[in-house]
Amino acid sequence: MPLERTLSIIKPDAVAKNVIGQIYARFEAAGLKIVAARMVHLSRGDAEAFYAVHKERAFFKDLVGFMSSGPVMIQVLQGPGAIAKNRELMGATDPKQASKGSIRADFADSIDANAVHGSDGAETAAAEIAFFFPGVNVYDR
Ligand code: CMP
Repeated sequence: MPLERTLSIIKPDAVAKNVIGQIYARFEAAGLKIVAARMVHLSRGDAEAFYAVHKERAFFKDLVGFMSSGPVMIQVLQGPGAIAKNRELMGATDPKQASKGSIRADFADSIDANAVHGSDGAETAAAEIAFFFPGVNVYDR
């Protein structure tokens, strides 16, 4: 499996629940290393720019409002097959559909307050890492 980097965000609901450490422990137990991290309170403009791909979707306004409602913890995860591995750990977008034992099944309340975000592919991962960590080279390992 290729060594990859992916962008992960612990969303305002999970930060408010004080479960950053529990979520980090899951990344680490799965062999993912946290190679960059910072806590940020996103402005509406930051959230709109980050989620621009969804701007025509009906949920966009709520998504932007939620993501700028409190601090988020943003990290770059690195490991073999990190992009798919992180998505497996997160579980389905809607926590009602998320597999038992996944982060969303255990910590998320709704499709909006769904605890975590993770890049969905290699191109998205490179773009999302560059958005929040312009100094981090996705190919530098
Ligand atoms: P995330 O992985 O951060 O990517 C976009 C977010 O939009 C998603 O998680 C959900 O929190 C939110 N969202 C709200 N409604 C929907 C929906 N119907 N489909 C996909 N994402 C949704």
